[in-house]
Amino acid sequence: MAGEDFPSVGDALGGCVIASQPALAPTPALQNLKITRAPSLENLNTTPKDRTCWREKSLRRLFSLSKSNGLSKTEEAFEDNVRVSIVEESIECLRRNDLGGYTIPAHNLYPFQWNWDSAIVAAGWAVFDEARAWEELDTLFSGQWEDGMVPSIVFHKPSTTYFPGPEIWGLPGNPSRSTGITQPPVAAISARFLFEHTENVKLAEKKMTDLFPKILASHRWWYKARDPENKGVVAILHPWESGMDNSPSWDAAMQFPIDNLPPYERKDLHHVNASMRPTKDTYDHYLTLLYRFKAENFYDSEKLYWVSPFRMTDLCTNSILFRANRDLRWLAIKLGKDDVVKEIDEWLDRGFEGFRQLWDEKSGLYYCQDQLTGKLADAPTSAAFLPLFAGVASKDQAAKLVENLRRWLDNVPFGVPSTDPKDPRFEPLRYWRGPVWIIVNWMICNGLLHYGYDDIAQRIYDDSVALTSNAGLKEYFDPKTGEGCGGELFSWTAAMCLAWLDRPNAISIGHKMSGPKIHLEQDSTLPR
Ligand code: GLC
Repeated sequence: MAGEDFPSVGDALGGCVIASQPALAPTPALQNLKITRAPSLENLNTTPKDRTCWREKSLRRLFSLSKSNGLSKTEEAFEDNVRVSIVEESIECLRRNDLGGYTIPAHNLYPFQWNWDSAIVAAGWAVFDEARAWEELDTLFSGQWEDGMVPSIVFHKPSTTYFPGPEIWGLPGNPSRSTGITQPPVAAISARFLFEHTENVKLAEKKMTDLFPKILASHRWWYKARDPENKGVVAILHPWESGMDNSPSWDAAMQFPIDNLPPYERKDLHHVNASMRPTKDTYDHYLTLLYRFKAENFYDSEKLYWVSPFRMTDLCTNSILFRANRDLRWLAIKLGKDDVVKEIDEWLDRGFEGFRQLWDEKSGLYYCQDQLTGKLADAPTSAAFLPLFAGVASKDQAAKLVENLRRWLDNVPFGVPSTDPKDPRFEPLRYWRGPVWIIVNWMICNGLLHYGYDDIAQRIYDDSVALTSNAGLKEYFDPKTGEGCGGELFSWTAAMCLAWLDRPNAISIGHKMSGPKIHLEQDSTLPR
């Protein structure tokens, strides 16, 4: 497999993917933005230590250069009147959610360290405190299991505001240090971002040397425990593992009978309106899986693959794993670990093959697949666009995906909805069944730029700016009204503001895609 990087739009600017966009006419969402904040740069809440590094300088650059960067009048207005306070709020949000070496997603609702949240949050910290960014990944991997799995939640300190907590995953007298399931493996993507853009090479080399074998072990775990049949794509065994908990992609597969469950209390409903959360029936199914895994030797993750009544090929997990393999490969080459490049290349080669089964030519979309029935889940969700982020779609497939995406965006004022707004399962407020998630927007945008769809990437970027400007750092957003939903002062939304939306003039997490070239041939022969 060729070792060269795929040249991307952002390359020429050292990763300033968004800055490389031509200034386009503002989208409707941008034009309708009500500017309600008028903060000033002087109020930026950074410590003297922060100010000594380029990150502070680039925060300042953001404001002084924006006008000379060809931005439209409306965009200038953001920079001047709105985005300064979002930067300030985002930094404050991460500090507020920092419980000492790890960042919780949000107080009360999610009081522990979540796996993919933390990997994304590390990129946010990197904007103003590089050492703290590395620490986030260190604490996440302190929860890694011996077999290589990185759990979905690490329970560092007790909390009474979340269910199911450590005593459910373990036993009341012997609470577990973590859950027994995982989440999408973003760590390599984040580690590469930190390493590639470091100002402290010594620290980065030390941290990366420690982290590399741990991340590698986690990818090996995915293939060993979750692809024992060599499909090239890995399985999730619980909807929580996808990170898209109540996506309509799981509806059919979640029809298995509910077990006789011990009584339980939904603590999430104390914090968020029930209309924005999964239903009781969905929760009963989540807990049925949890208790079955526990009863069936929870800690033997290889056994779980064969006994779980829920086993899906998830597009989100597989797209992230594929992209993370590209980044792990890039890191391996940088660190002189050439011996593992071949192993990663094999994962990538097999991944290209595995993804083929998830494509539906008729609708021009990718779908998750139920591994137990072999059927594609027919739900059109935003995860369908994530193979662009992986760089696994062909040019032809990308064109069809973009056709669908344009249609979705024409049907709602704010994109990207997590389900096709014309689909009967679309629910604009209910979590992963309709709302917009900024992290998903970032992944889709990043993929679109690599495939050369700059205009639609700009549109999603503008929508993301408008949503966070109007509604603040909420967990997710109503695509019909732009209203913020779910948790308040949400860490990964803040991290995305810092590491993506507010960095048009500095680095952004949209680094170039490495590894095998994106499929450019219509006949989808394996790229070299
Ligand atoms: C919810 C989300 C999941 C996220 C977690 C913490 O469970 O569905 O993706 O990791 O909250 O933010």
